[in-house]
Amino acid sequence: MTATPTAPSTRLRNGDALEEIVRPQEGLISRRIFTDPEVFELELERIFGKGWFFIGHDSEIPEPGDLVTRPCGIDPVVLIRDDEGVVHAFLNSCRHRGMRIARTDRDNATFLKCPYHGWSYKNNGELLNAACENHYGEGELVKEELGLIPVAQLGSYHGLWFGTWNEHAPPLDEWLGDMRWYMDIIFGRTGGLEIMGPPQIWEVDTAWKFATDNFTDNFHVFSSHHSLVELGMLPNNPDFAAYGHMIVPGNGHILHFVQGEPGNDDYRGLGLSHDLRAKFDEFLTPEQKSIADDHGYSAGTIWPNFHWLQLISAGDMEAHEEAFLNLRMETPITPTRTRMWSWLAVDKDATPEYRKKVYETYVRTFGPSGIFDQDDMENWEDCTRANIGPAARRYTLHHKMGLKRATATDWPGPGVAYPDSYGEMTQRSWYAQWLTSMTGGNGNGRGA
Ligand code: FES
Ligand SMILES: [Fe+2]
Repeated sequence: MTATPTAPSTRLRNGDALEEIVRPQEGLISRRIFTDPEVFELELERIFGKGWFFIGHDSEIPEPGDLVTRPCGIDPVVLIRDDEGVVHAFLNSCRHRGMRIARTDRDNATFLKCPYHGWSYKNNGELLNAACENHYGEGELVKEELGLIPVAQLGSYHGLWFGTWNEHAPPLDEWLGDMRWYMDIIFGRTGGLEIMGPPQIWEVDTAWKFATDNFTDNFHVFSSHHSLVELGMLPNNPDFAAYGHMIVPGNGHILHFVQGEPGNDDYRGLGLSHDLRAKFDEFLTPEQKSIADDHGYSAGTIWPNFHWLQLISAGDMEAHEEAFLNLRMETPITPTRTRMWSWLAVDKDATPEYRKKVYETYVRTFGPSGIFDQDDMENWEDCTRANIGPAARRYTLHHKMGLKRATATDWPGPGVAYPDSYGEMTQRSWYAQWLTSMTGGNGNGRGA
């Protein structure tokens, strides 16, 4: 008799069920899930062991042998282009004792040699040589069985490579679903993007979910980043980022587009230069183009931890043609410590002058030295510290804004759209997917 797989237990050791302490439909989220080691262990297995995760972009490994070392979920991988041009993602761990075989953030290699005992692997993952092979007896070393361990599935969309350790995960295209339509607007608008330089990587004493929660949060800007308002670098209107749409395409993916105040034409064309905007006609459908034309900035999350920020320059209110595209990712280290990743992407056809401007704008606004991230990190760390105690963890956090918000009837894109970009509709959808993933299903994350 074969055993029937059973859904994972949703009860924590003290008897609380996850469904009782996380209630996205009501906008109530337990503080406990941000700091509890038991919840964190379940997340590693049920979210980071099962989902699709961003690893890197095509433009980071253009030539045969190019590689970058990154996490897939939280496990270390090497994303490498082999001599035939085929891209692979392997567990960055030797088959002998598990030593990391790719030791630098990026490199170019025909083969990878393990520093411990010298096993070496071709850039397509095959084991080439083992140390002291003459000392192995018959059948003790079967090289064909000892190649590098690939991710269970690897896929790409618009040059973004994603991997999963779950052989039963739906194919990437299916999992991205309607989110692809919106990714076309951000990543395909002018025919292709490339990453500028290496990512910035740093660590923050925060629960990873606070950083994720913040990426779909528009109404913190006027308060948290008020120094920018005082300096004249953001509009002096608490509602300035409310004019737009929040969208829930499903599977936990979420995004928004913001228009800026009525009558302000700077918040148009995704903030791109006019020569780049002219390409929208070629690469976007009329519906996609109308969204790109009408909005200035956008933020999106591909479930669970990969984000984009398409932003107009906040460094100079007169220079709105210096929009930049920031890619972000959080990988948890412990329940309360998180590694942050931040890349700058630019349209392939952008001029050298434009690239220089967007690079400077990005560096002064996002990343560990950026004025926005400096403000945000203080919030994430403080939320983490103030939610860890035995009193705090008995209470819920409040995610009710827009619980009764009507959906937009004239939005040209797929998914559920709301005609306002202040609200917690998207956060509730993200937590709905969290709950679905933690209780054993794929879900569609549209439950909020
Ligand atoms: S751990 Fe890699 S050769 Fe021994
Ligand atoms: Fe912020």
